[in-house]
Amino acid sequence: MNMDILMGTPMSVRISEVVRETESVRTLFFRTKRLDREFVPGRFIMIWIPGVDEIPMGVSLWKQNKIGVTVNPIGEATKALCSLESNDWIGIRGPFGSSFTLSSKNSLVVGGGIGMAPLRPLIYSLLEAGAEVTVLIAAKTKQELIFFKELSKLSHKKLHLKTSTDDGSEGFAGLATDAVREILREREFDTVYTCGPELMMHSLYELTRDSRMSFQASLERFMKCGCGICGTCALDSTGSLVCVDGPVYTGEYLSKMTEFGRYHRDALGVKKKF
Ligand SMILES: Cc1cc2nc3c(=O)[nH]c(=O)nc-3n(C[C@H](O)[C@H](O)[C@H](O)COP(=O)(O)OP(=O)(O)OC[C@H]3O[C@@H](n4cnc5c(N)ncnc54)[C@H](O)[C@@H]3O)c2cc1C
Ligand code: FES
Repeated sequence: MNMDILMGTPMSVRISEVVRETESVRTLFFRTKRLDREFVPGRFIMIWIPGVDEIPMGVSLWKQNKIGVTVNPIGEATKALCSLESNDWIGIRGPFGSSFTLSSKNSLVVGGGIGMAPLRPLIYSLLEAGAEVTVLIAAKTKQELIFFKELSKLSHKKLHLKTSTDDGSEGFAGLATDAVREILREREFDTVYTCGPELMMHSLYELTRDSRMSFQASLERFMKCGCGICGTCALDSTGSLVCVDGPVYTGEYLSKMTEFGRYHRDALGVKKKF
């Protein structure tokens, strides 16, 4: 196997624009013409921040050769990424991993916090494919709702936008899963797509498990190589690797994963409870 093909050829790209989404979250845009693989919603890229680290990032925009990543600064690498400005350089590899299946006619898309990032291209692709799309953006407070302004400005007759906040400052007051319970009383869906905190995704999986709705979730695990070499991102003792078999998993696949919603692993592979 040619390692360049497996790992993706690293490419230097110059940041063209930085958009402030919330007090702390930033979307960084850059352009590239050369791609190792086709981008489909759900796939992720590895971003190298010179002198700091290389980390996985979902893709929040991929339009022709313009790419966007939306970053929540929680640690050294993400903080460094958020501090970059237009004309700074980063390295990228990918895109890698599995993608969302777009065959839905009537979808519910649930994004918790920064989990909205990889769902954004999915929402636009579903609408382009003619699907009816209900989006629930969930966050702790109104100020932390990602892409709320953008999606509320989009007057698309097939887009139904809902919000939930833990503090009740916007939309449903309470947890995303309780908001989903309420939405499910009013409407039926063929597919539920989600990305966000794993405990939220696990509760949604439980909610949909005995229904006719299909379930697709984008998971996160600690990653080093991003392409199936190091084993750091193991989801389970079954050997499922989130960078290759995921990040997008179906409910059927997750039903066989004993660690989904229970454990993740740190940089040394030690199991940690959620
Ligand atoms: C496929 C994929 C897509 C992602 N997409 C995005 C995205 O679109 N936007 C975004 O902001 N972040 C995204 N992330 C998460 C991002 O990669 C991590 O937040 C980042 O690697 C943390 O690096 P750091 O140096 O900033 O923090 P660190 O200093 O390494 O860690 C800070 C804290 O976060 C925890 N942590 C680190 N990585 C992860 C992880 N993968 N899962 C759970 N906890 C973790 C650490 O245990 C520690 O407690 C994604 C992760 C994956 C696997
Ligand atoms: S990150 Fe190395 S195998 Fe997944």
